[in-house]
Order: sequence, then C-alpha cells, then structure tokens
Amino acid sequence: MDLFDLNKVAHAMVAPGKGILAADESSGTIRKRFDAIKVESTEDSRRDYREMLFRSKDAISKHISGVILYDETIWQKARDGTPLIQLIEQAGAIPGIKVDEGTQPLPNCPGEVVTVGLDKLTGRLAEYYKRGARFAKWRAVIDIGKDIPSMTAIHVNAHALARYAALCQTAQIVPIVEPEVLMDGDHDIDRCYEVTQRVLNKTFQELRIQRVALEGMILKPNMAISGKNSAKKSSVEEVAEKTVRLLKTCVPAAVPGIAFLSGGQSDEDATAHLDAMNRIGGLPWKLTFSYGRALQAAAQKAWSGKTENVSAAQQAFSHRARMNSLASKGEWKVDLEQKKAA
Ligand code: 13P
Repeated sequence: MDLFDLNKVAHAMVAPGKGILAADESSGTIRKRFDAIKVESTEDSRRDYREMLFRSKDAISKHISGVILYDETIWQKARDGTPLIQLIEQAGAIPGIKVDEGTQPLPNCPGEVVTVGLDKLTGRLAEYYKRGARFAKWRAVIDIGKDIPSMTAIHVNAHALARYAALCQTAQIVPIVEPEVLMDGDHDIDRCYEVTQRVLNKTFQELRIQRVALEGMILKPNMAISGKNSAKKSSVEEVAEKTVRLLKTCVPAAVPGIAFLSGGQSDEDATAHLDAMNRIGGLPWKLTFSYGRALQAAAQKAWSGKTENVSAAQQAFSHRARMNSLASKGEWKVDLEQKKAA
C-alpha cells in the first residue's frame, strides 16, 4: 500500500469548494427515481441520464471532485462510443465505484440488515482499478426504531465496513466508509445523535483493529438530524451545531475529510446544513458533500427522459453543484436560491 498516494487522492476528493456526486444508484433504486419522472428504466435510459450528468463539464470541473459510479455505468459507453468513465476524467474529476452488493436481513435481529459483498471483492477491486476507479464506496444501513439498532447490527456492519476498507487500501483504492443511520422514523435529533455516536465509535474501533490507515479514507456519515416523521424539526443551527459536536467526539483528525450523504433531506436543507457547519469553522477535517438525491432530484425532474430537456437538466444540476460548492466553503446564501427560482 502506498499511503502517500492514498492520502493524496483522499485530499483531492475533499479539495476546497468541491464535493462528490453520488451517481451510484443500484438498478432498483434508479428505477424508483425514474418511476417518479415516468421514465422507463432501461440500459439505454440509464446511460442517457448519466451521460447528461457527466457531460455537465463546467459544473463537474468546477464543483465536483469525484463521481461514484455503479457497476453497470463504469463499463458503459456514451452514445458516441466514449466510455462514460472517460467523460468524468476529461472533466477533471476522479471516478469512484460502489462495491457493496446491498443488504440482507440480519439473522436473529428482526428488522435489521447487514451489507454484503466481501466475497471476491479483491478481484473486483483489481478490475475497477484497471478501469480507472481510484476510490470506492460501501454503505452500511442502520435503522432507528423502538428496540433497534441492536449492538449486533452495529457490530457486524462496522466489521464489514472495516474489512472492505482494508481490502480497498491494499488495492490502492481510497475507501469511502459510509455508515448511514437512516432518517426514517419519528425519532428526535437527540436520539439520532446518540445512535450515530455509537455507530461511529464502533466503526472507528473496527477500522483500528483492522489496521486501516485513517489518512487514506473518507468518512461519509449522516448528519445529526430529526427523523422524517418527527413532530419537531430542528433548526439549521441546531443540526449544524450537534453534527459538528458529534463528529468532533468520534472522528480522529487524521481522517482527511468527511463527505455527507443527503439521506432524504430537501435540496435546500442539505445545502443549508453543510453551509452552517462550515461557518462554525476551526475543524480538523474538510466537511463537504457526497450527495445523491440532493444533487440530482432537480435535474431528474427537468430531464424527464427527453433529449430536448438535456440542457435544462444540466442547468439544474449545475445550480445544485454550485450551491453545495459554496456551502462546502461556508459561503452559501439563501437568496442565491431565490434568484434562481425567480
Ligand atoms: P443520498 O445523498 O441520496 O442519501 O445518497 C448518497 C449515497 O450515496 C447513499 O449511499
């Protein structure tokens, strides 16, 4: 393992004013997104949609450090035959790849899941590296409910995340370690804080046990935030203050950067929260975005599967990329959104 090089890539992934585009929806998830805009999900429609995103050259070169791809996409070609991965490289961003294979029910733990995909991962990582991927992603899913999460679910998922991270670094690929505590449910922000703290502590314990070099990874966590159905929505300031406090207690300063998932927050909330955290300042790591929905929802709606909408969709994507880029520097303002709306 060349730690110097891993560290260099990790820093590039969280370079000032830049963040990550998570375009790694599995076939099932992208079908759900396409259903919402009444587009049939086929190999060609998925290719057309992602080609539209990756050809937003200006937005990608200015605001996006890396793009997370799904297995199908990394091997796909644009309509003119250019490999999609090449469009990303040409725009100056780093290609990454989702390598987990989704979740399975966790035995003896009703309602909980474990992320799978470790078998044969070494061989797959070598293939992805050859194709050009320089970082990877693995997402663990922790749900909050009446009697969950169990310590069992937290432990097995942290263990798998660390196994994945160690294998990535051996393959000279920077692991994005993503332990996602879901926003589903009616819990309040303090319950989210408490669960996320347990999850992050266990995750870093496992990373240490398995000798993962913290300088060569990126953490992708949820924010401390109330559940979607909570009676009480926290203010932007409360989310920012509690998330920063939480991360300071759990994440060693050796980690180059933290890139948040959006997790079902509205586009503007995801931007406002990131901005407020960066305004607090004095942080030991970079704080940026690795958004899926919060970067793509507006573009998907504008596109709606029609060639004549490509330019409008690229504009919608570019706008969100720019807003989040500003937020990653604590320079976003709400009236920049209103100007766009007007
Ligand atoms: P969201 O930002 O839509 O939560 O997606 C990010 C991601 O990559 C989840 O694994």
